[in-house]
Amino acid sequence: MTSLKWWQTTVFYQIYPRSFADGNGDGIGDFKGITEKLDYLAGLGVDALWLSPHFPSPNWDCGYDISDYENVAPEYGTLDDFKTFLEESHKRNLRVILDLVLNHTSDEHPWFVESKSSRDNPKADWYVWMDTQPNNWQSCFDGDAWTYAPERNQYYYHYFMKQQPDLNWHNPEVKKAMWDAIRFWLDLGVDGYRLDAIGTIFEDPKLTPHTVPMTLAELRRFSDTAKTPKEIKLKDKYWHDMFKNQWGQKGVHELMKELRAVIDEYDERMLVGEDDNIDYMGDGKDELHLVFNFPLMRTEKISPAHVHKNQKERLGKLDTLPKAKGWPCNTLGNHDCSRIHTRFGDKVHDAELARLNAALVLTMKGTPFLYNGEEIGMTDMMLADISQVRDTMGSWYYHVIVTDMGVHPQEAMLRTAEMTRDKNRTPMQWSNHPNAGFSPAEANTWLPINPNYKEGVNVYDQENNPASLLTYYKHLLRVRRESSALKEGEYVPLQTTAREYFSFLRQSPAQTVLVVLNYSDQAMELDFTRTKEIRNSNLRTLFTSAERRSAELTPKFKIGAFEVFIAEVERG
Ligand code: GLC
Repeated sequence: MTSLKWWQTTVFYQIYPRSFADGNGDGIGDFKGITEKLDYLAGLGVDALWLSPHFPSPNWDCGYDISDYENVAPEYGTLDDFKTFLEESHKRNLRVILDLVLNHTSDEHPWFVESKSSRDNPKADWYVWMDTQPNNWQSCFDGDAWTYAPERNQYYYHYFMKQQPDLNWHNPEVKKAMWDAIRFWLDLGVDGYRLDAIGTIFEDPKLTPHTVPMTLAELRRFSDTAKTPKEIKLKDKYWHDMFKNQWGQKGVHELMKELRAVIDEYDERMLVGEDDNIDYMGDGKDELHLVFNFPLMRTEKISPAHVHKNQKERLGKLDTLPKAKGWPCNTLGNHDCSRIHTRFGDKVHDAELARLNAALVLTMKGTPFLYNGEEIGMTDMMLADISQVRDTMGSWYYHVIVTDMGVHPQEAMLRTAEMTRDKNRTPMQWSNHPNAGFSPAEANTWLPINPNYKEGVNVYDQENNPASLLTYYKHLLRVRRESSALKEGEYVPLQTTAREYFSFLRQSPAQTVLVVLNYSDQAMELDFTRTKEIRNSNLRTLFTSAERRSAELTPKFKIGAFEVFIAEVERG
């Protein structure tokens, strides 16, 4: 029996509601569609779902601009549809966590509409207002962070788009209103929350200006064209310096403690923060249950050296929390970044690397988060025309560089296609039918479908194919589910200087498992005869991505190019 909590042994799967499954044929995903796919998700072998925002929203930021925290976006269905979805998920032992956007609301939220209406209305102090534009702060999405509201003859602050005004979290009424909204969903039975952008909740009270000699648009442009190591270093420094007074400021810990207390009024609920800062786990018991290991994916290339370094740093720090050790949480993709298959491919061995990276996330110590579509190898899709762009941070950038900087529209479109998050949010590819089975053939889908659904990148074609990526994910998820070491075991790195392959043990009281991920295109012989945990044991294959003659191996064995090899270390 494990003493771990459900959120430690669970594999999470992120659903991007707009793009998951269209149940009513309007070209937009919805709860009817998601509910119809629950058997697929249960069959895949994941244990919990994270839903990106499903609340009413004008969709300036694809649902991350919420206009009602206690309802369902009409295009996704009704509250009853949500309840059905939740009930059907729970019936299949799939837990559900929601997205919680604390930093800002939509500018169409009644709270903001009222706050903006005058300087002395009951919600006048619910957002961050200033008489004059106090500094040069930028919004990370669309230029100036201060927007003028003639109704009050004042400026309001927004870290994200101007349609996403920041709430004033120093105001206790804001907290109360938000905690009420949280309880609303917890009372319905949701299992927790993924916390959006918590680092942005507070700002430097001194309003210290940034020192970067550029605007956001200029910095983006500079980043697009930076080539030399010096330019690249400078660009990174500028990004840091531009936002350092608007990020990670005092107050977040206290707020997370309050939120944790709300969550702990309920049994067995959890919080995962969209932040890599382990300090947001507090003493191990009083803030967030998990934060993401984003440094793992913040690299050009997943290499054994990178992963060893990452694990050393993360696990070392997690072990030092005073009350309870912190638990890791690993992911390689989400709705904000390039898809795993594209991002960590090398354009020659993309398929092999996608398999290795999936195995990495599913065997490392910690709770894995998968992003919808990665299990069938969905890739980024570059939009060709500005009229197709739905991510407004992309269209804003396009218009600024074309209009203010004179960049040729063709080049601007290429840059926009690369930077916009639309590329990794295209509809899920369910079959090889028109519109990839996401919507009926005649529907106009909200983002174009990636044409590679016709080339096998779809669920239907992969489902009964033993060699498909989908079958591979299912197999790996089953091996993980059946292995106490993979779910809960300690991590012991092995042969850390090897550059081509990554190897480690996972050890639970009941089981020791060896994992070897060969990141090279060469077969090789590995020798673990000097590893004390293995040297006198046989290895019993639990999983291999290569053909293997024998299920039993000695600690000296051959491994194929790009092989994923997982074996139980038999106790002799
Ligand atoms: C988070 C979300 C992202 C959103 C932003 C503002 O980073 O993941 O999609 O645009 O917060 O809410």
